[in-house]
Amino acid sequence: MKSRLTSLIVVALSLFAFNSPAQPTHTFAIGDNDFLLDGKRLQIRCGEIHFARVPREYWQHRLKLCKAMGLNTVCAYLFWNFHEFEPRRFDWTGQADAAEFCRLAQQEGLWVILRPGPYACAEWDGGGLPWWLLKNKDIRLRTSDPAYVTPAREWIREVGRVLGAQQVTHGGPILMVQVENEYGSYGSDKNFMAEMRQSLLDAGFNVPLFACNGPSQMPNGFLTNMFHVVNFGGDPEGGFAALRKCQPSGPLMCGEFYPGWFDTWGSPHHLGNTERCLKDLEYMLSHNASFSMYMVHGGTTFGMWSGTDRPFKPDTSSYDYDAPISEAGWVTEKFKQTRALMSKYLLPGETLPDPPAANPVCAIPEIYMTESAAVFDNLGSSVSDKSPRNMEAYDQGHGCVVYRGTLPAGPAGVLMVKDARDFAWVFIDGHQVAVLDRRRPNFRIPIEARTTPVQIDFLVEAVGHVNYGPEIHDRKGLQGPVTLKTADSATEIENWKVFNLLMDQRMLSQLHWKKDKISGPGFWHGTFVMDAVADTFLNVSNWGKGLVWINGHCLGRYWNIGPTQTMYVPAPWLKNGLNEIIVLDLLGPEKPVLAGVEKPILDQLRPQLDFSKKPVSKGHLLLEGTKPVYTGTFAPGSDAQTVRFEKPVECRQFCLESLNAQDGKPYAAVAELDLLDASGNSIPHTFWTIAYVDSEESLQEDGSALNAINGQTADFWHTEWGDAQPKHPHQLIIDLGTNTQVAGFRYTPRSGQASAGGRIKDYRIFAGEKLVEGNK
Ligand code: GLA
Repeated sequence: MKSRLTSLIVVALSLFAFNSPAQPTHTFAIGDNDFLLDGKRLQIRCGEIHFARVPREYWQHRLKLCKAMGLNTVCAYLFWNFHEFEPRRFDWTGQADAAEFCRLAQQEGLWVILRPGPYACAEWDGGGLPWWLLKNKDIRLRTSDPAYVTPAREWIREVGRVLGAQQVTHGGPILMVQVENEYGSYGSDKNFMAEMRQSLLDAGFNVPLFACNGPSQMPNGFLTNMFHVVNFGGDPEGGFAALRKCQPSGPLMCGEFYPGWFDTWGSPHHLGNTERCLKDLEYMLSHNASFSMYMVHGGTTFGMWSGTDRPFKPDTSSYDYDAPISEAGWVTEKFKQTRALMSKYLLPGETLPDPPAANPVCAIPEIYMTESAAVFDNLGSSVSDKSPRNMEAYDQGHGCVVYRGTLPAGPAGVLMVKDARDFAWVFIDGHQVAVLDRRRPNFRIPIEARTTPVQIDFLVEAVGHVNYGPEIHDRKGLQGPVTLKTADSATEIENWKVFNLLMDQRMLSQLHWKKDKISGPGFWHGTFVMDAVADTFLNVSNWGKGLVWINGHCLGRYWNIGPTQTMYVPAPWLKNGLNEIIVLDLLGPEKPVLAGVEKPILDQLRPQLDFSKKPVSKGHLLLEGTKPVYTGTFAPGSDAQTVRFEKPVECRQFCLESLNAQDGKPYAAVAELDLLDASGNSIPHTFWTIAYVDSEESLQEDGSALNAINGQTADFWHTEWGDAQPKHPHQLIIDLGTNTQVAGFRYTPRSGQASAGGRIKDYRIFAGEKLVEGNK
């Protein structure tokens, strides 16, 4: 009796608490074949848009564009860390006002699919997971570890409090809610998924709950008491077949269909294949399948929110994603063609509104930065620590850290650091002596002989926390001990001063500006006057690497290696009259000048400017006379294939050598190469690097070898096919960073149509301590 009464009170309260005034409520259900809205079939034509990546003042404009393109639904992640940057301090205001975004979507006649996480991915810092979880050095993220589940449950409860009323059952636009995100490519613990599902129910979500996964990850952690959608970038038939294997009935839905892709610093800009995209969309529209285009509008990852692809490929701040709606909200050719296609599949009586006009855009003449402030003159206060610890341990989630120590007088030697994330500029008595670069982890610094003690400074820049794979346990900063090795001694350097440079408004407001020009890491200040604000793109190609703020808004990160050379500046962040710009440049500008331009530059790579150059020599292979540990033939097709060795091999370097391809052509490609330990689990890629690759396409497309070990099956390593077409055999050698027991591997070929080139047929595997030398 008591329980029935309490549940009746709860429902009454929730109905009262949650009901959006005056909006009719709806039922939304998963039918045997269709989604049923108020009992009627609904084909969901959806597009992904992240309100955190779009200036609030432009939310309605972008939503109107979605409607005009033919969508009836938008899908939105919630990034936990964006709403709870510090424990239990929730923010749902301004750019974080998710409820307002839902209301605006409803106003524009769009339903909403909500993806509250706790984990999201999305090329967002830490995949949305708060940095403060990493303070606990033993936490196991995205598992049933109570240290993770407790705060995750509190987050979901908070989401329920704020967005429960936005469910269709309460008069809002939210049709269904996602549980976690692509969990199948991370684990297979059904209890964990059940826990995440229950947290949403306990938070008051009573619309259908669903999970999304790639085709081959679908079975992992699969629960039958929720709905499932499949994510793919092509071959909808194959994708839905994989879905049907796990979910024999129910509407077919693609939860993420990729019309483009994201960019990482130093790799070519990604352009989607519009023709193929439209063909696949037509397939889904004509086969009564639902879909969500990821992304319909990418926008910009402002601030320090951009993530990092595994193992370590920092994402650009521009999240244009070659989406139908461009970064600045412009209608693209892809938009027009998609709109034309959608208009053929509208419900009777359904019409498409005209797209709203583009927001005005302008150029801003050259702006000279007239003042500067050296980083080392503006360190602020410090904390003392026996040995350097990761940034999060000092309650810092973003920005830079300076670790200052003293090296005793003594002979020349080598300073060894356990780990430095992500880039560390090393200074002795103020002179730069080295750069530690996580892209090429070699944390050894030659130190000259010293007659007196010297001051050593590590200026460490943290870029985005890795957002995908086991590498999300990505603690930033310097991680001690720091040891000085000489010919006959090894001394741990202790007693450090730690300066936490949060790069927040408070720090910027305390900078001491000087008129003179500085060299090295520092801030620059300038002003400019506008008499009619409009959107613009700041051309930052004169600058090295850092962050930009306009009128207090952090536009994001820039890096002169590209591919992005401009930063989107939305007009609502500009002022008629005086505007202020602050630039942090960790390298120092060629010329302290900026300008606003009318068109973005998203595809300009400048590898020659990279502060730590790619290895000059590939080195030469040591495979001659080496016995392969395994030879075999892969099956055709795009399914992942697992190979187990008779007995594990101990190795530091692992080589996959292709002898020929399924299509007989000279190319080799690998979407993903995972190595397995004795119990068949994937070995983490934390310290993996590419020791050698004979060929990689890096101009016509991003065929970099790193794609084979970044955990994303949608991108891939591909040998050159543009300016050159080197023949088989092709070799890809991974350096595991340390000797490891390898009991097998999993090769994931390129996904997509059978015509996708590079699928390896016959191959050999080599493993050993050293398979290549001279690759420096
Ligand atoms: C995955 C994730 C998304 C996003 C895309 C790549 O499928 O679910 O959040 O990271 O890949 O853009």
